[in-house]
Amino acid sequence: METNITNKGTATLTVDGKSYELPIYGGTIGPDTIDVRALYKQTGMFTFDPGYTSTASTESQITFIDGDKGQLLYRGYPIEQLAEKSTFLETAYLLINGELPTHEQSIEFTNTITNHTMLHEQIERFFQGFRRDAHPMAMLCGTVGALSAFYHDSLNIEDNSQRDISIHRLIAKMPTIAARAYKYSIGQPHVFPDNSLSYSENFLNMCFSVPAEKYEINPIIADAMDKIFILHADHEQNASTSTVRLAGSSGANPYACIASGVACLWGPSHGGANEACLNMLKEIGTVDRIPEFVARAKDRNDPFRLMGFGHRVYKNYDPRAKVMQETTHAVLGELGIKDSPVLDIAMELEKIALNDPYFIDKKLYPNVDFYSGIVLSALGFPTSMFTVLFAMSRTVGWISQWNEMLEDSSQRIGRPRQLYTGAGLRDYTPMDKR
Ligand code: SDX
Repeated sequence: METNITNKGTATLTVDGKSYELPIYGGTIGPDTIDVRALYKQTGMFTFDPGYTSTASTESQITFIDGDKGQLLYRGYPIEQLAEKSTFLETAYLLINGELPTHEQSIEFTNTITNHTMLHEQIERFFQGFRRDAHPMAMLCGTVGALSAFYHDSLNIEDNSQRDISIHRLIAKMPTIAARAYKYSIGQPHVFPDNSLSYSENFLNMCFSVPAEKYEINPIIADAMDKIFILHADHEQNASTSTVRLAGSSGANPYACIASGVACLWGPSHGGANEACLNMLKEIGTVDRIPEFVARAKDRNDPFRLMGFGHRVYKNYDPRAKVMQETTHAVLGELGIKDSPVLDIAMELEKIALNDPYFIDKKLYPNVDFYSGIVLSALGFPTSMFTVLFAMSRTVGWISQWNEMLEDSSQRIGRPRQLYTGAGLRDYTPMDKR
């Protein structure tokens, strides 16, 4: 990756009467940064930033979020335009390569991905080791990590051709693994990929077709699925992407790195929020119970939070949530679902929260997870599959960021320091003295 950093002077830090000049770097858009890499050597001090609220971990040219504007750009293109005009595979090509594909490039990329959708047949035996009631995310996490036990020929990250085949295999096989986890959890036979179908059509077919009858693919539903995958594809240096980058910084193989991203995404504060949000809406149950839950969310002594609300970066409406809301209405309309209690509760909850000083003052808005559970549920997915779909899509972002990291000559193994407040040096205490 060619660096695009511009020098913008220095910041002066004064400690104990001594001044230090720290370089200021600017990018294309967004906040400037102060380079603190030499801080410890110069001052003997670390920066302190638990949760990395003010820390840029890397230079990147893939995705940009303006949290105040509620803007999300993939390689400079607004998410709204990509969701409306692009496809998930075209967006994947864009995130990985930096530019939208030409017609020929698009055909070649689609064919490459399509021809990697099958899994090694031994993985079936691997799957048989799971309990039927295992959470699909557990099966996804375990199987993705196990891929490095089946694809030994593409683990050398120094070899560009092996990196490329790993990237293509991961994008192509995630839907097959995800669908297989779903079928396994409901006791149905898994459905092999059908290379005559598009990425999203193929995924729906693998999830919902059965050997006993033909599955008719609804183009509106397939388009909604593809749009949902576009919305979830990448999102700067979020927790799971940072996990993938940190794992990759040690030279770990791509399958292990992506498995670490799956594991991190599973948490309810991150990708697990879509499942937690739908469960919350079901727990609220009726519109008249919304004030009770809003009060709990505002109570500092109550750990309850409104799932699907708030974001580390967005201090405005998450642009993905707007597209997701539109997609939800389109899917419910196409499926003829007139009344959706959870949608009614979600819309009323949104209205109440957006007019409540607590949420206004803290700039808490619906995020991508607020509506996704409703539309995924309408599409026929159980809540346990919501984060699996998020992981499928985010694999494209993770692998793009992982690849960018490997191409960045300034990257070193990630190794944060700490502010130690534990016991000072002391001698071992014998048992009779304790
Ligand atoms: C994703 O990073 C990404 O980009 C993630 C993601 C992606 O695409 O990769 O966008 C996907 O993870 C979306 C977020 C999904 N998570 C949820 O919906 C879970 C509910 N949201 C919260 O847990 C929270 O908002 C976070 C985790 C999303 C953000 O947490 P932060 O940035 O650490 O913010 P915070 O916890 O410091 O909150 C600031 C204040 C706190 O109050 P005070 O201590 O200042 O009094 O806002 C409050 C919080 O208590 N707050 C909430 C709230 N979210 C924050 N109060 C009630 N309900 C909420 N949802």
